[in-house]
Amino acid sequence: MNKFTRLSLLSATAIALAACGKHQSADGSTASGDATVVKIGQVSPLTGPISHLGKDNEYGAKLAIADLNSEGVEIGGKKIKFELVSEDDQGDPKMGTEVAQRLVDAGVVGVIGHLNSGTSIPASKIYSDAGIPQITPAATNPAFTTQGYKTTFRDIANDVQQGAALGDFIVHTLKAKTVAIVDDRTAYGQGLADQVEKAIKANGGQVVKREFTTNTATDFSAILTSIKSVKPDVVFFGGEDSQGGPLAKQMKLLGLSATYISDDGSQTPEFIKLAGSASEGQFASSCGLSHEKMPGFAAFNDKFKKAFNTEIQTYAPYEYDAVRILVEAMKRAKSTDPKVYLAEVGKTDYKGVTGNIAFDAKGDIKNGSVTIYQVKGGKWVPVSTVGGDGK
Ligand code: ALA
Repeated sequence: MNKFTRLSLLSATAIALAACGKHQSADGSTASGDATVVKIGQVSPLTGPISHLGKDNEYGAKLAIADLNSEGVEIGGKKIKFELVSEDDQGDPKMGTEVAQRLVDAGVVGVIGHLNSGTSIPASKIYSDAGIPQITPAATNPAFTTQGYKTTFRDIANDVQQGAALGDFIVHTLKAKTVAIVDDRTAYGQGLADQVEKAIKANGGQVVKREFTTNTATDFSAILTSIKSVKPDVVFFGGEDSQGGPLAKQMKLLGLSATYISDDGSQTPEFIKLAGSASEGQFASSCGLSHEKMPGFAAFNDKFKKAFNTEIQTYAPYEYDAVRILVEAMKRAKSTDPKVYLAEVGKTDYKGVTGNIAFDAKGDIKNGSVTIYQVKGGKWVPVSTVGGDGK
């Protein structure tokens, strides 16, 4: 039996045991033996072109729940057993709101997610209306935290920071004079492309072409032929690795020699797999410290590989931290009731796997950082970090 099967069986057994003899109480929690069962939701695309990213998030949450349950948590004098309720929003905005309502109806006391900005933003209204804290470990569009909701938090840097870091890097480090920009027309891809364009111009660079595709397209020859005609120094892509990988590959096939650079949705092992040898020398950013600078990464990585027998894609450590942040807030509030512990989430000062996490008044991470990586020898290697502890 491999480790993953063993972990799944253990969680299945834990859930089955928790289900026997449960007694529903007025606040939605259930008693199981001498422990009270408290449900935490997580949402990401578990099917579709970026299911590898969605599963990576889910794995991060599973590890956090397993660790908390094996450590044993007591809140307000009660033994707590945490249960993960994981939902698949397929990366689709409409499905995002549907599953958000499902989680609220299931009585979760907090939600980690969603992964995409395009789903996190519409779903945030449902959690806000229900008074349930939501921490996204992945959605980077700045609009997520500017809606005036008290329930929205994000434990990674946002696209204002990411766009500024990318624009600066493209103009001053890559020394690009001319840049072509492609995006996938999602809230994330288009929003980030706009931020990057703004930053390139502010740094004295020129955007010579803007093109767009979709988050399901796989053939980029028309866009790339049009880009080739203007001979840019750099091509920036705003979107996920499921498009970024094939795009970088097709650039090489078409003889486009521009440097390729993308974003946190592409800074993944999957990008390297999809782009193949065309990934070598290309760049992408992530919205946090490099793995080398994350205080808990090495230990987390070992645990992750043992449990799931696969590599971390990107957001799993932020998802793990997000679950623990919610539970720390419950402990400080001495309550698992979202209406009671919500105020404590905003007061977070947590040393996590990914670094120090505290939130500003909007719910964004304070002192967030952005790291730019390059593929060298078939692996992502950090080149520079701005913000956070990487200054
Ligand atoms: N950062 C990506 C988004 O916001 C995953 O959609």
